[in-house]
Amino acid sequence: MKSDTQVAIIGAGPAGLLLGRLLRLSGIDNVILEARDRHYVENRLRAGLLEQPTVDLLDAAGTGERLHREGKFHEGFELRFGGRSTRIDMRELTGRAITILYPQTEVVKDLLAARDKTGDPIAFEVSDVTPEDIEGDRPTVRYRDAAGVAHEIRADFIAGCDGFHGVCRPAIPASLTKTFLRDYPFAWFGILADAPPISDELIYAHHIRGFSMHSMRSDKVSRLYLQVAPDDTIENWNDERIWTELQLRMGSEGSPRLNEGPILHKSITPMRSFVTEPLQHGRLFLAGDAAHIVPPTAAKGLNLAVADVSVLSDGLITFYKHGDRSVLDGYSHLALQRIWRAQEFSRAMTELLHHVPGQEFDERLQRARLEGLVASRAAMTTFCENYTGLPFAGRIHH
Ligand code: PHB
Repeated sequence: MKSDTQVAIIGAGPAGLLLGRLLRLSGIDNVILEARDRHYVENRLRAGLLEQPTVDLLDAAGTGERLHREGKFHEGFELRFGGRSTRIDMRELTGRAITILYPQTEVVKDLLAARDKTGDPIAFEVSDVTPEDIEGDRPTVRYRDAAGVAHEIRADFIAGCDGFHGVCRPAIPASLTKTFLRDYPFAWFGILADAPPISDELIYAHHIRGFSMHSMRSDKVSRLYLQVAPDDTIENWNDERIWTELQLRMGSEGSPRLNEGPILHKSITPMRSFVTEPLQHGRLFLAGDAAHIVPPTAAKGLNLAVADVSVLSDGLITFYKHGDRSVLDGYSHLALQRIWRAQEFSRAMTELLHHVPGQEFDERLQRARLEGLVASRAAMTTFCENYTGLPFAGRIHH
């Protein structure tokens, strides 16, 4: 079956859904195609520390209401190392931004609910998705729907929001593309535990045994992470070993021990830093994980996707409203500036807190860096400016 739209969006993660929403609010037709089923999309477990500019754009999209009600404001966080804990007061240091803990799955549910209301087309469980003619004036996306029926959508533009393993990035000729990749010699073992968090705030801990972190999903459910080897497996970690290791690494003088409880979920996440350049070719534009990956330490993944969409939506809306393609043509250049700054911070925060076995000199440097950070108001302010999120470059249109 053949159909037409203005923007064909591939991928129903936060980038694709938010882009579709902002385009709709400016009267621009769009279709979203998603390889997974709706249940999967609404339930994938991801971090969810929202920067202020992300909250602002979700508000502008009219999808911020529940996050203000249910999200938890974080004005500071704890940094632990050498058996000591330091609270970093983000609000006091930056004089502005704070973050809101509101998991990515909830952002996705809100965006999907908004799309349900406007009735804009979205197809789940599609396969054989193929972007074609991206160098021409009227690119096409071919795909099969959940029933196996072949479709062809003609569009003005294609937005590739289909993640790291998606089909859009490879659609840009490799000869025109440069990719940048850095793997890390560790991974994150994450658990959800039926145990009340010991604090309302996040705790990042550096320890000679490895990094660990305390976050939460509710007043009753803790989200905890441990640095492990990249080839480690879930089977190696029974509940007792997990709790023993977490208590050892998180322990600090005068702080309560973690509350232990039944472990509801275990997973291992590899860590990598990745960027592809440019983010656009012809009428195809990449946004979110299709274009870049950050290690999870600073929780920048979702925020970066939303930052991309701030510029891409600005470019598309400016084109449709005023016939001016300059913002759209500048998308890759503008978005990459912020992407690289977030890459730099994500890497620095990762290397500040993780332990690489056998590197004793580096371990001493790391301690010196941590001491230097908590001893200097200027250093902590810079850290918090990056942590709470740099401004977005795109304009909001309504
Ligand atoms: C999380 O809650 O999953 C989370 C929060 C902050 C981070 C990383 C992960 O920096």
